[in-house]
Amino acid sequence: MLHTHLTTCWKLSYPIVGAPMAYVGKGRLARAVSEAGGLGMLGIGSKDSAAYIAREAQIARGDDQGRFGIGLLAWSLASRPEQLEAALAARPFLISISFGSLAPYAARIKQEGVLLASQVHSREEALAAVQDGADLLVAQGTEAGGHTGHVSTLPLLQSILDVVEVPIIAAGGIATPRGVAAALAAGAEGVWIGTCLLASPECDTTEDARSRIIAAQESETVLTRAFDVAQGFAWPPEYPGRALRNRFSEQWHERVDELAKDQEAQQQLREAVARKDYDLAQIYAGEAVGLVRQRLPAGEIVRRLGEGTEQLLRERYAALLGEA
Ligand SMILES: Cc1cc2nc3c(=O)[nH]c(=O)nc-3n(C[C@H](O)[C@H](O)[C@H](O)COP(=O)(O)O)c2cc1C
Repeated sequence: MLHTHLTTCWKLSYPIVGAPMAYVGKGRLARAVSEAGGLGMLGIGSKDSAAYIAREAQIARGDDQGRFGIGLLAWSLASRPEQLEAALAARPFLISISFGSLAPYAARIKQEGVLLASQVHSREEALAAVQDGADLLVAQGTEAGGHTGHVSTLPLLQSILDVVEVPIIAAGGIATPRGVAAALAAGAEGVWIGTCLLASPECDTTEDARSRIIAAQESETVLTRAFDVAQGFAWPPEYPGRALRNRFSEQWHERVDELAKDQEAQQQLREAVARKDYDLAQIYAGEAVGLVRQRLPAGEIVRRLGEGTEQLLRERYAALLGEA
């Protein structure tokens, strides 16, 4: 067994959190990750209702009252406070609030005895999140799928580990035992994985999207605001989204100001999203997409990562320390 804060204090079998992923990471995926011995999370997007949160949380919990987390977007909570109330009513083990300040929500969450996490993207954000009441931080590197910052996982992890006292989890680009081992060896208490779950059957996506995930190489993503600008989403500009490159991103990534005024292009994307035409519509995924090669069940991914990491660390550490 791997001994970190997540296995000794939280009593997980593996120090692995299934990242919140809005619109694709629902109750079924969260449950599969938790059942396998990690902590599964529901991702809540700005369009999701309180009723949706209640329904998916029920599925995540299952009949045996399993643990799960809920990931919320700070900038969405500002106009949708009912999302936080619904999340608290669902009694999760953990709530993450990312992409904006925790300050308005921290006291309310702590009052309910729920752990509070936040994904951070710089040393400055890390210090602010701890000051605002985060119980743990997720160092989310720019390699990550979905919305993220501009610093890579490893430099971010190194700059945060030495300046805060709370447990730190690494996110971004981790999809094999080698990646998990590197994060844990550096001092992270666990990993927060998204992209490597995207082809699993529990993920709420289409077969076409799964095939594109499996076919994509690590060099085929783009960090762009094009999809948000075209759809009028209120994402703060400092957090673009990492998605598979496609015709739409190729055309508009470097011309988002023009795109903001081009109603025809915006309409074209909206229609493509509705018919799930990924030549234009976005598939959010990180650089680790190049490591996703099969449609494995989420539980199997978690178990393989956990067991593989333990074995790798045993072999590598013994060899590195001259004990082999
Ligand atoms: C499809 C997708 C949707 C995501 N949605 C959210 C979200 O709703 N809230 C959030 O805090 N993070 C979201 N993220 C970021 C993840 O929580 C996590 O940081 C990321 O997946 C980790 O990097 P990786 O994709 O390289 O494993 C999303 C990521 C992906 C791939």
